[in-house]
Amino acid sequence: MSLADSTKTEALGRLDELPRARLGHAPTPIDAMPNLGARLGRARLYVKRDDCTGLAFGGNKVRQLEFYLGEAVARNADTVLITGAVQSNFVRLAAAAARKLAMDCHIQLEERVPKTDPLYRNSGNVLLDRILGATLHSYAHGEDEAGADRRIREIAAELEAEGRRPYVIPLAPGHAPLGALGYVVAAREIVAQMEADSLAIDEVVVASGSGNTHAGLLFGFRALGCPVTVTGICVRRPAEPQRERIVSRCREIAELLGVKPMVEDGDIRLLDDVLAPGYGQLNAPTIEAIETAARTEALILDPIYTGKAMAGFIRRARQAGPGRSLLFVHTGGTPALFAYGTALAEALSGETADGETAGGEMAGGETAGG
Ligand SMILES: Cc1ncc(COP(=O)(O)O)c(C=O)c1O
Repeated sequence: MSLADSTKTEALGRLDELPRARLGHAPTPIDAMPNLGARLGRARLYVKRDDCTGLAFGGNKVRQLEFYLGEAVARNADTVLITGAVQSNFVRLAAAAARKLAMDCHIQLEERVPKTDPLYRNSGNVLLDRILGATLHSYAHGEDEAGADRRIREIAAELEAEGRRPYVIPLAPGHAPLGALGYVVAAREIVAQMEADSLAIDEVVVASGSGNTHAGLLFGFRALGCPVTVTGICVRRPAEPQRERIVSRCREIAELLGVKPMVEDGDIRLLDDVLAPGYGQLNAPTIEAIETAARTEALILDPIYTGKAMAGFIRRARQAGPGRSLLFVHTGGTPALFAYGTALAEALSGETADGETAGGEMAGGETAGG
């Protein structure tokens, strides 16, 4: 019996008993990245294609939504409510998941990113939210998770008074980490793939935002006895406050699954050196990472999450010794690329369609757009 099979029932506790709506395509492939590997050093590089989870352009939030929407279905809800940044992938996928399950969706967009250009406000995920027919609300602040949750619960109460059966996905921490369970499942999937393909991965690198993906993976690997290092690349807040989130999330996952805590605080690795100038704002390493991934492996990344995570991955790959194997988790986010089209087009190096050289002079550390 394999590691994943032998331990899943006991070590992952109630994981397979909790309500789950099957929304995504899984397992997603693990592909080798030989061209990027040759460019960066002597480590072997791989990518977990969670941008290919299938639903409405895919991404990590599909796995997370399987548990939220599972609970929504179990409660007989007919309307999902969720808050996110203007270009949130989570809210786009919540709207898509709601449609698959014949529900309505209300989205509250908060002002987390200081960008006013029309592309940012109307294209990418916002366009998809509209195509999916979600009802959009706005919240004027970007750093007030508790206030945004209060407001969306008021909207839910109004819907309830009209006879609807709302289900709220909260923004602030402090609720059961249902989303993280999607990445406990993904950790089990990766362990099974490593065994089936005789892959010895030493380090997994992933974007760390709300922390559900990071905490779920780390918890899942440890619960399954897999010693792989998990490095979270901070995309939302600096490493120290993010560490507190991951610590709490890992403890809450253990409580939810009814198993003992599996993650030591010292096991939480975070890098925040590609975060500046802040959430959703471009910088030179991110633009370089977007170009490099596309031009070596035809991997399309986004400016908010996976571009920054790849910038961190590139740094880790350059530092890694020969024979080390690193896995990048591509968490999706591709639609946001189009919302950042103006800033990206200005920043990209190389020839434009009319033969001009476009913005190839960005110096390291300089910011583009935002
Ligand atoms: C494309 C993408 N990657 C990574 C993340 C970060 O995942 P998490 O919030 O679970 O830390 C997000 C969050 O919205 C995302 O949309």
